[in-house]
Amino acid sequence: MNVKNKNTIRLLKRLFANYVRKHHSKLIISIFCMIVVAGATALNAWMMQPVLDEIFINKNKTLIVFIPIAVITIAIFKGIASYIQSIFMSFIGYRLVADIQNQMFRAAIRCDLSFHNEINSGTMVSRFIADVGALSRGVHNVIINIIKDSFTFVFLIGVMFYHDIKLAFLALFVFPVAIYPIRRIGKRLRKISKSTQVGFGMLTSKLSESFSAIKTIKAFGSENFESKRIDKEIINIFNLTYKSTKVNSIARPLMEIISGCAIGAIIFIGGSQVIQGQTTPGTFFSFLTALLMAYQPVKSLASLNATLQIAMASAERVFEILDKKPLMKETKHPKDNMIDLKEKNNINISKISFKYPNSTKLILKNINLEIYNGERVALVGYSGAGKTTLLNLLPRFFDPYKGKIEIGGIDVKNLSFNFIRNYFSLVSQDIVLFDETIKYNICYGSSKYSKADLQNACKKSHCTEFIKKFPKGFNEIIGENGSKLSGGQKQRVAIARAFIRNSPFLLLDEATSSLDSRSEKKIHDSLDKLISNKTALIIAHRLSTVIDADRIVIINNGEVVDIGKHSTLIKTSKIYKHLHELQFKTKNEKNLKT
Ligand SMILES: Nc1ncnc2c1ncn2[C@@H]1O[C@H](COP(=O)(O)OP(=O)(O)O)[C@@H](O)[C@H]1O
Ligand SMILES: [Mg+2]
Repeated sequence: MNVKNKNTIRLLKRLFANYVRKHHSKLIISIFCMIVVAGATALNAWMMQPVLDEIFINKNKTLIVFIPIAVITIAIFKGIASYIQSIFMSFIGYRLVADIQNQMFRAAIRCDLSFHNEINSGTMVSRFIADVGALSRGVHNVIINIIKDSFTFVFLIGVMFYHDIKLAFLALFVFPVAIYPIRRIGKRLRKISKSTQVGFGMLTSKLSESFSAIKTIKAFGSENFESKRIDKEIINIFNLTYKSTKVNSIARPLMEIISGCAIGAIIFIGGSQVIQGQTTPGTFFSFLTALLMAYQPVKSLASLNATLQIAMASAERVFEILDKKPLMKETKHPKDNMIDLKEKNNINISKISFKYPNSTKLILKNINLEIYNGERVALVGYSGAGKTTLLNLLPRFFDPYKGKIEIGGIDVKNLSFNFIRNYFSLVSQDIVLFDETIKYNICYGSSKYSKADLQNACKKSHCTEFIKKFPKGFNEIIGENGSKLSGGQKQRVAIARAFIRNSPFLLLDEATSSLDSRSEKKIHDSLDKLISNKTALIIAHRLSTVIDADRIVIINNGEVVDIGKHSTLIKTSKIYKHLHELQFKTKNEKNLKT
């Protein structure tokens, strides 16, 4: 057995054990029904013999009543059996889709940020939709093919052998001849469909990219450019699907020619036997019917491997996600209750070095910083210095490569994700909002809050003013990523979120960049309210925010190069002085423009 087959069997076993076996009663009933259907098909072929010999030739008066009743009875049984088999098998197939999609989403959403940064979101979507669909079709077809078609085939062959052993051997000889081209075609189809799946993935990702970047596309007037880009993918899929139909369409006429030859030969031989009186016309016709009926199951059995290979290629992509284990482990024995939230808990960042996965460059180098409870610490440095990276380490979006971070003396690795994520509240420069109501967005991630809390949060973050202007107020749906809100309004929603969460520690990442001065003032005011009584680590371009900080930490090239107050740093730190000058200049330029 080659590696590919072993792999297929391993995947099938896993699919069966995890998603099919648990529906065993439905599966057994459906297998039973498939056998009934197969038996009924063969029985119909067999009936040709008494119909011709007894009714047409011998003019038997009893059988003329009995046989039609038998035919109707068989049809009823076959109908009921096919109905039950079809709904049960569909149930198993759709359940498999639902179960896998559920598990995949759970697995994917738990993966580290670093994993999601690497994989394209369109590719992920295509795995959920196209791959899981192909997988389910594969499993469904494999079960039906293997059970129903092989039983039908065996029963029909049985009928043929029952009637005429010599002719049956002759007919059996034709099947392998017919199977050969089908297998060749199957192989080609498999290759084509693999490229088709990849093509669909590309199309999905480019589509989602284009639609989410619609504003940029319009701003750059690149509608035509984008249309051409998408056209390329669509044409690619068109070519592949058309090619696969072309290949597939050869199968039918080819089979018909081969079986035409076989049937011709059999009519000649069988017909001669009938003329010579060696066999009855009924027997011969029953044989011929069985042979004709055997064509369909043989065809599906021959293409089984192609279906299976397509499904298994999808299975591999699906299982890759299911098996993805987050690199960042959550402790099994969290020491959450060792931290008393009423106590003063300092944050200690010690000897932190960090590099992003898949990169060798050290982004942070041996950072040491203790942040005292209630303190307001500002991080200042050139763009790309590593400020955001440092901020992201506190709520454990990434784990440091060396060193540790402690809250009140407890390593964050010994705390549950839930605890840490609630301990820190992040208001960052890229605010992501959901296409839901304003209320949903403000309360996102908070479970315990009262109506008064919500109103208070909106008031303090200056959200109430613009919420009132919406016809539906709090229940206004704000569009994809908050497209109905202005930049400043989005930021205020993000601040309201932080108010509701009421975490002891605030992380602000350039929360006031890209705003006009009036919005900025409102936001400063809300941020001041937010920060009061809390510990905060702030990254700000606007040095005005920074001037009031208890301590200013200068980061350069991933290292802490200076710590102090504004009044001292402005004299002692070259970098701080430079940044201050830059800021002063841009501010003046801005004032000139407006
Ligand atoms: N997800 C990432 N993968 C790899 N490198 C990254 C990633 N995010 C940021 N970086 C790199 O890390 C460095 C520091 O970035 P960042 O912390 O965002 O800087 P700052 O916030 O100080 O402007 C930059 O050189 C940036 O290119
Ligand atoms: Mg940054």
